[in-house]
Amino acid sequence: MSEGSRKVLTVSSGELQQQKQFEQKVSSVISARYEGKPKACVITYGCQQNVADSEKIKGMLDEIGYDFTEDRLEAKLIIFNTCAIREHAESRVFGNVGALKSYKRENPDVVIALCGCMMQQQHIADKIKASYPFVDLVFGTHVVHRLPELLYKALTRKKRVFEIPNMDGVIAEGVPVKRDSDAKAWLPIMYGCNNFCSYCIVPYVRGRERSRRCEDVVAEFKELVSQGYKEITLLGQNVNSYGKDLEPRVSFSELLRMLNDLDGDFRIRFMTSHPKDCTKELLETMASCDKVAQHLHLPFQSGSNRVLKAMNRHYTREQYLELINYARKLMGDELSITSDIIVGFPGETYDEFKETLSLVEEVKATSLFTFIFSARKGTPAYDMDDPVSAEEKSKWFKELTDLQEQISAQQMKLHKGKTYKCYVYGKGKLGDNYIAARNDGNLIIEFEGDESLIGTFQNIKVVEPLTFVLRGEIVKE
Ligand code: 5AD
Ligand code: SF4
Repeated sequence: MSEGSRKVLTVSSGELQQQKQFEQKVSSVISARYEGKPKACVITYGCQQNVADSEKIKGMLDEIGYDFTEDRLEAKLIIFNTCAIREHAESRVFGNVGALKSYKRENPDVVIALCGCMMQQQHIADKIKASYPFVDLVFGTHVVHRLPELLYKALTRKKRVFEIPNMDGVIAEGVPVKRDSDAKAWLPIMYGCNNFCSYCIVPYVRGRERSRRCEDVVAEFKELVSQGYKEITLLGQNVNSYGKDLEPRVSFSELLRMLNDLDGDFRIRFMTSHPKDCTKELLETMASCDKVAQHLHLPFQSGSNRVLKAMNRHYTREQYLELINYARKLMGDELSITSDIIVGFPGETYDEFKETLSLVEEVKATSLFTFIFSARKGTPAYDMDDPVSAEEKSKWFKELTDLQEQISAQQMKLHKGKTYKCYVYGKGKLGDNYIAARNDGNLIIEFEGDESLIGTFQNIKVVEPLTFVLRGEIVKE
């Protein structure tokens, strides 16, 4: 199953065909078992990669013949697609699954399934096995494409089904996708991660970095454009290393240029970039491609070089700032920068945390995603000494979010009077006649206008910066 000299396991068309046959088998089972079309409820936690996986899950369920509901208590199939990145996400899953115990007792024909990153960890699968006997099906991140087969087993066997192969990961092309939006699409271009940042569980649960073939990405992109999608976000844990495993090699910049050259009115977004692999060439490509959003999500995690080293990040704050300054030089005020930060990494001192604050002041991001360190079993940071108390870390965290709030407010003011090409995506919240749009930098601008504009690009002038949104007015040609 290897592709040339690539070690990647590409799921063969024969295997996918087999899954289509299982779809038909499940179809027969559910039409005999339930009256009318049964409903499925897919609950997604975590990142966009999980959202994209859930769209595949819904694509397969749709082909089988399920309808969909948001209300788990009217579903015959409930699937939790879980996230393992922080303890909080895991506790929510355990709480929500536990709450279904009596529903399952009263409705034994309901199937409860768990999948996603949490399930790829042995200790979690063991806990589900031992303490959640009403869960019927558990499957890992590498077998999502085999859902029809696994569901068939869960529906027809008396035994619970656990399918969590421990492997480097696969690429499955051609799995059907049922997208949540008609305008915005997620397009995974690669899977897995090789970076092993010392706090992060992702490389253990999503396997090694593997890129989808360029032809496959371009074909799916073209299809999305022809279906009318206007905002397409390329996804990967570290998109900057896209294509390093392909033969011939294709760089992420080359991929962006290829997509930018396609005909059509659309905007390309991408996430996430790793500072150690973010090249000047990529920033130049962003600046020169008219359809690529001038938005860079570049997590720096910490402003202290000692902490960055302990995190195994492979860059310094000086190198990070050099990238930001270069990006700003090329793209000016148009560029929106966002970042992720971890507060309270094991052994971090208050002085080191203050270096994070000073980097936040220098970077002046549009917005930040901030997290308190959460120890993940199996990662190197889990075993590191962590003397700072949770209360103390919460204080630091508040200091950080207060600072960023001030910076975001200042940043918002800079937009006053500026005109942006925006994608109008839905109804607004500022008043009944307001509709909402997003500019390149992902900022929300609301303006008074007709709902018929939803789904189009419009030029909007910012009139008044508010706390989280901008109020604007449409610019007539
Ligand atoms: N604890 C806290 N935050 C984490 N992240 C990843 N792992 C952890 C952890 N163990 C954050 C990082 C990453 C984002 C997706 O989640 O900031 O960039
Ligand atoms: Fe986790 Fe680091 Fe990989 Fe991001 S780059 S997924 S933080 S290991």
